[in-house]
Amino acid sequence: MTQEEVFKQLTAHAKEYGFVFQSSEIYDGLSAVYDYGQMGVELKNNIKKYWWDAMVRLNENIVGIDSAIFMHPKIWQASGHVGAFNDPLIDNKDSKKRYRADVLIEDYIAKLEEKIAKDVEKGRRKFGESFDEAQFRATNPNVLRNQQKMDEVRSRMTEALNANDLQGLRDIIIDCGIVCPISGTKNWTEVRQFNLMFSTQLGNISGEDGIIYLRPETAQGIFVNFLNVQKTGRMKVPFGIAQIGKAFRNEIVARQFIFRMREFEQMEMQFFVRPGSELEWFAKWKEARLQWHKALGLGDEKYRFHDHEKLAHYANAATDIEFEFPFGFKELEGIHSRTDFDLSNHQKFSGRKIQYFDPETGESYTPYVIETSIGLDRMFLTVLSASYCEEKLDNGEERVVLRIPPVLAPVKLAVLPLVKKDGLPERARAIIDDLKFDFNCQYDEKDSIGKRYRRQDAIGTPYCITVDHQTLEDNCVTIRDRDTMAQERIPIAEVERIIRERTDYKPVLRKLNKIG
Ligand code: GAP
Repeated sequence: MTQEEVFKQLTAHAKEYGFVFQSSEIYDGLSAVYDYGQMGVELKNNIKKYWWDAMVRLNENIVGIDSAIFMHPKIWQASGHVGAFNDPLIDNKDSKKRYRADVLIEDYIAKLEEKIAKDVEKGRRKFGESFDEAQFRATNPNVLRNQQKMDEVRSRMTEALNANDLQGLRDIIIDCGIVCPISGTKNWTEVRQFNLMFSTQLGNISGEDGIIYLRPETAQGIFVNFLNVQKTGRMKVPFGIAQIGKAFRNEIVARQFIFRMREFEQMEMQFFVRPGSELEWFAKWKEARLQWHKALGLGDEKYRFHDHEKLAHYANAATDIEFEFPFGFKELEGIHSRTDFDLSNHQKFSGRKIQYFDPETGESYTPYVIETSIGLDRMFLTVLSASYCEEKLDNGEERVVLRIPPVLAPVKLAVLPLVKKDGLPERARAIIDDLKFDFNCQYDEKDSIGKRYRRQDAIGTPYCITVDHQTLEDNCVTIRDRDTMAQERIPIAEVERIIRERTDYKPVLRKLNKIG
């Protein structure tokens, strides 16, 4: 199966088992907006908890807030979003479809990359054991030609993006002969800037003055509360403020399921430091965030850093943690050194003094900021795509299993009476009644035990316990492991301890270094 097919199966699976639904589906859906179902919301909550505990609980000097989505419109002028939160947009006159010019060019580069990968594969097949990939890449004329083209296009694009040169972007599209994927034509409009913020109107103010924005990032809610939190929490630099909440962007290209949405959730943390120390903290946070990802055990080789060539208007260093999704390595989290850009601008636009008096140095200054920013929905997709697995079993049967890390699994334990009679359901319910205070449990008595195991595999439940006739005599149950499918007989009195040990956050959190 190709990766594209795997991704299709994965999205179908996410719907079939109550993880993610298209928003407004009975009205044919709303593009790039999604709802989370009964399993999805549990997984999402568990991801949030893992992030929140790693940030706020483990670090004495990081605290959380929950700021409003609507904010004073001046905030978005101060932050630069009104002027600069744009994407370069281009329309195809024949299909009437709208694209991001940089994404069209990136897709073109990705195709060249694919061509190179195919040539390398061909070489590998031809030369077998003696194949030397590095030498092949350095000498094969097709590979060299495509690599050179790729490098040239990439460097032209970076230059054009850095200079906000819209004509330059259009020239690349024309020179490379890029066609519209729908109409197949090169009948392009000019490239223009498109602001990504959604706006709406305050009820009691008419005209321009009443326009407010749906926040495109949660970070600004943290910046404008810097003084409130610092003073009331008696926080000393370096310290951080964390927040989880909704953000909205009118994305031109919304695709790949929940990867790029118009309404999504962010988990952001702004870490305030002494000016001059920001790059040291930037390096520390890069490592800390990668460690947070790796501690889940989804596969260390699936992550890489990608340093930004084009820096956002507020940053003096920036990197992405990329994850290998079924559609390739893509941004999962951003780590930005935002300088004092935001606090200084809020000082300017609000007229309020936003400074910190450092008791250690006796100086007042505007702190610099390191930001870590991860999309909750993108993290959700990361977990789903790393966990989704179609397996052929020894007995010839097939199963779909979500190997979700047990700490994040929506349901931790299913309790299954072997048959629907002889007092087994009552016994199973009594076990759940005892454990439901500790874990999210499911009870299932319908269909054969094999079918019930498959249903739990499909939602990623790490453990099932089966209550059988012998249970009534010896107070023991069979516990089945989702991944190995191994079964073990254990006393009921031991179930809570065993499930706790195997699904607990503590060992995962213990892998993380304290940083704050
Ligand atoms: N405060 C900085 C900031 O917002 P960003 O790189 O634009 O930076 C941070 O966004 C993270 O938010 C991204 O790494 C991604 O995980 C998530 N994100 C951004 N746009 C998104 C979208 N349209 N849909 C889903 N997640 C998105």
